[in-house]
Amino acid sequence: MAFLGGGNPASIPEAEEIFAQTYEAIGRDKSHLRSILGDYSGPIGNEDLRSLAAEALALELNFPLTKEHIAFFNGSQNAFYFLLNAFSGTMPDGTFRRIGLPIVPEYIGYADQTNEAGVFAAFLPNVEQDGPNRFRYTLNAKQEYPDDLGVLVISRPTNPSGNVLSLREIKDLHSLCVKRKIPFLIDLAYGNPFPNLIGKEEPIHFSPGMVLSLSFSKIGLPGLRFGIVVADPPVIELLSSFAATGNLSAGNIGPAFARIFWKERTLEYLSNHILRPYYDTKLQMALEILEGVFQTEKIDYLIHKPLGGFFVWLYFPSISITNQELYELCKEESVTIVSGHYFFPGLVEHFSHREKCIRLTYCRSEEEIAYGSKILAQLVAKHS
Ligand SMILES: Cc1ncc(COP(=O)(O)O)c(C=O)c1O
Repeated sequence: MAFLGGGNPASIPEAEEIFAQTYEAIGRDKSHLRSILGDYSGPIGNEDLRSLAAEALALELNFPLTKEHIAFFNGSQNAFYFLLNAFSGTMPDGTFRRIGLPIVPEYIGYADQTNEAGVFAAFLPNVEQDGPNRFRYTLNAKQEYPDDLGVLVISRPTNPSGNVLSLREIKDLHSLCVKRKIPFLIDLAYGNPFPNLIGKEEPIHFSPGMVLSLSFSKIGLPGLRFGIVVADPPVIELLSSFAATGNLSAGNIGPAFARIFWKERTLEYLSNHILRPYYDTKLQMALEILEGVFQTEKIDYLIHKPLGGFFVWLYFPSISITNQELYELCKEESVTIVSGHYFFPGLVEHFSHREKCIRLTYCRSEEEIAYGSKILAQLVAKHS
């Protein structure tokens, strides 16, 4: 078996040891534990912890944040539901607003979240060759955006492509949003300040008009379900009203971990000394294995330059079956991959990447990656 399809972070013993110690510390502090387990928090978290979050994040996001800029959610996916529905669909004045995805492929988790249909507007990137067997998606600077957009959304690093948009691209999109008075949602699930899997690219800083979404999941704690939104106070107030009915209360365990992490500056250490080196080594290993088998099988392939996150996004220009068919054939050989066609919600134009790309995770063992890559390469060779 080779599970190369999921989005789970890797199991990293050094990180897990820190998580276990933190969990034990929470359990030992009986007075806090009683209220963590026995009391509801506010809809978007308690004020003391939101203040602590503001203080910790102000430095990293380079903005004088206060608790009014912070909301806690049960994972960032939970926040997206409220955010995407607040800024798309039929508005109180009767107009219809869409969610703009300035570059597709983009995270599948935004699709199917909305209460109204037809809300996604996807825009094609430039595809630039970036060395042998490498390409990169960049923002199409000449793109004209329609007037009916209610929000722009990107993930940085991007799931699935492993792209990390440059600060120049971010600035251009932010200026457009400010001009149009619409929010710019930047999903930092794999980004800075944690887990900070952004390679050599510069970190994002907060500016008014942005809605930043952070998550504890990809540091290795998806089971905590803890996400943080950083946004202008009116957006946080709006989210608080949604959360009061939709969630009743934000969970307490994630913030309890965060309190300890922030006090001891654990996240910075974890990101820079454990997670980044671990994923960098894994990436090099996965690339060597993949390119080795692709060259043995003499197949045409291009890999999106892996700039961040923990996925490899592959394009097979000469493949004669669709990525969904390739997925089925891989599954018959006990190899799971993700077909790329899911990552283009709202795209109306033809784009060969929609049918010829797949996503692989490199969070798995070397044996699994080797087995999965070999099967994949043989199937692509057979159907090219
Ligand atoms: C880009 C991106 N954003 C958000 C999420 C969801 O994260 P969370 O566990 O915080 O809901 C994921 C999960 O795979 C993701 O890939």
